[in-house]
Amino acid sequence: MHKGPTLTLAADAAGLQQAAALLQAGALVAFPTETVYGLGADARNGAAVAAVYAAKGRPSFNPLIVHVPDAAAARELTVWNDAAAALAEAFWPGPLTLVLPLKKGHGLASLVTAGLDTVAIRVPAHPAARALLKAFGGPVAAPSANPSGRISPTRASHVLAGLNGRIAAVLDDGPCAVGLESTIVGFNPAPLLLRAGGVPAEAVSGILGRAPGSPGGDTITSPGQIASHYAPGAPVRLNATQARPGEVMLGFGDIPGDLTLSETGDLQEAAATLFDHLHTLDATGSPIAVAPVPEQGLGEAINDRLRRAAAPR
Ligand code: TXA
Ligand code: MG
Repeated sequence: MHKGPTLTLAADAAGLQQAAALLQAGALVAFPTETVYGLGADARNGAAVAAVYAAKGRPSFNPLIVHVPDAAAARELTVWNDAAAALAEAFWPGPLTLVLPLKKGHGLASLVTAGLDTVAIRVPAHPAARALLKAFGGPVAAPSANPSGRISPTRASHVLAGLNGRIAAVLDDGPCAVGLESTIVGFNPAPLLLRAGGVPAEAVSGILGRAPGSPGGDTITSPGQIASHYAPGAPVRLNATQARPGEVMLGFGDIPGDLTLSETGDLQEAAATLFDHLHTLDATGSPIAVAPVPEQGLGEAINDRLRRAAAPR
């Protein structure tokens, strides 16, 4: 995790350049959007994404929103439908997030989507956010820049109050205009309103020609934890010290496996490799044994995810 004071950068050419360079180096940079300040990380860098969860102290891996400079960049990562295109045309750049299937070769870290095959994506309208995305030149994963369980920050001072010393920098460009998170729309394949937010539901209905469905169907439960979490098809056995016959083994630290979350017992590395390794082991079709992971720091979120994977279904 980041150590040392958090830099406050102005949203001028020099500040934006420095913020982009920090993101490129895998560091965390909070930046303003029109909704709330986001805690940004390179969405292709699993270790950087793991650091986001560590800095926020999130006890579980919610999938994050990926921010891109324009709809063309979103189309490079995701598979589109007509309703999504109409909504993007109407509300991007702006406080709308679309949840769309990932395209093959998308290059995003699996931790961004918590192993799902869909991603939440948006094009922010805030000039500093847009300038940062352009200078960085890639997708930026960003949840709201607050510690888990605290209210979302709408000023750089709010970000520092919660995260000072835990992130590399905050790009300060004053208060956020909307002050409320983005509206999230997913597709089932019909449009579903997954989270109310900065774009009013009536405005979404106006573009769609009818009201979007509401979550609560079988695939999507409640906003905020919408995520039909990725679950392996095979049974998962936790706190295993070695594989039983027929099992494949996911190791950690001193306990080896067919694949290992982190040989050195590094929890950030373990978070970054978790979903890739679960997918790979799941593809073998064999039951999966998992070595114990300490219940501290990111270990809490890793264990939460592993317990869900192991829960009877
Ligand atoms: O306004 C916003 O959206 C702010 C700014 C920074 O852009 N970001 C934000 O991110 O609110 P976050 O991480 O706090 O909220 C992400 C929401 C969560 O409710 C999560 O469950 C949902 O998006 N989400 C992300 N990926 C998803 C997916 N693949 N399927 C369903 N829901 C998803
Ligand atoms: Mg949030």
